[in-house]
Amino acid sequence: MVTLRSMAPKSITKAVIPAAGMGTRFLPATKAMPKEMLPVVDTPAIQYVVQEAVDAGLHDVLLVTGRNKNALENHFDRAAELEAQLERKGDVDKLAKVNFSTELADVHYVRQGDPKGLGHAVLRARQHVGHESFAVLLGDDIIDQRDPLLTKMLEVAEGQNTTVVALLEVDPSQTYLYGVAAVEPTDDPDVVKITGLVEKPKVEDAPSNYIIVGRYVLRPEIFDILEETQPGKGGEIQLTDALQTLAAGPESLGGVYGVVFRGRRYDTGDRLDYLKSIVRIAADREDLGPDFRSWLISYAAQLPEQIPVGEVLHNPNTGTIPVVAS
Ligand code: G1P
Repeated sequence: MVTLRSMAPKSITKAVIPAAGMGTRFLPATKAMPKEMLPVVDTPAIQYVVQEAVDAGLHDVLLVTGRNKNALENHFDRAAELEAQLERKGDVDKLAKVNFSTELADVHYVRQGDPKGLGHAVLRARQHVGHESFAVLLGDDIIDQRDPLLTKMLEVAEGQNTTVVALLEVDPSQTYLYGVAAVEPTDDPDVVKITGLVEKPKVEDAPSNYIIVGRYVLRPEIFDILEETQPGKGGEIQLTDALQTLAAGPESLGGVYGVVFRGRRYDTGDRLDYLKSIVRIAADREDLGPDFRSWLISYAAQLPEQIPVGEVLHNPNTGTIPVVAS
């Protein structure tokens, strides 16, 4: 079992959010709008992720963007005309919503240029980050504000001067969709030492059922490693491959640790998961939740009648249920 060192003074201040993807899974919505701007209830997905960084004390946020991403810059900038109009009307609540994202963080931008993969996107942050450890947050995952993950990751990274990724235990059949870690325990039940990593392995080759969720705390040495990392899965420069180099590398590089997340995570990466995320978040909201929940219960109660006999329903608790004539 690996013994963890105690916490060092807080030094990490920067977050990097790759946001250059084309979002083709959401076409046509993403033809002229970045996928990061898709609303999750009434707030763009990217705002939840920037908020998460800020909540963990990272106020310096670098978005790695690409073509067609101007809406992101506008969202985190002043909107003078809109503000003036709301001021004239005395609409204080809406004005506060407009100003909130402007004041949320100190947001910077760099463009990725060629879409050469997540590792390449992170490498584009080199100039801004300099010689400091930093966090990377992927926009397809939203972590519930009530279940802080990044704060714990920063504690481990700063205490150990190490690299940390967020891990989640999933059904083994799902491992082929993610980076997967081989792990051994430490004296903290929420932290594991990572002994190997592989990007999107075949189910039979996965070293465990611990997948990487899109949260990382990286040491600046990752940039040199990424420079040398050859294209991997999908012909792209994979961050997972660079992390594998670290995990297998000398102890002087600090190794790689995983914080096991057991809280609420909302996947907004594909259409079905996006819909589920919106329903779960809306049902929990103080303002919309009560009305939405009662509508949802009555809507769900009459749903099976609308599904043709012979179709199969999926119930996460009981598995699949074939629909039969009542
Ligand atoms: C990326 C990473 C993968 C990680 C995943 C988390 O994959 O390459 O290791 O598990 O994010 O969402 P992507 O989903 O971008 O294909």
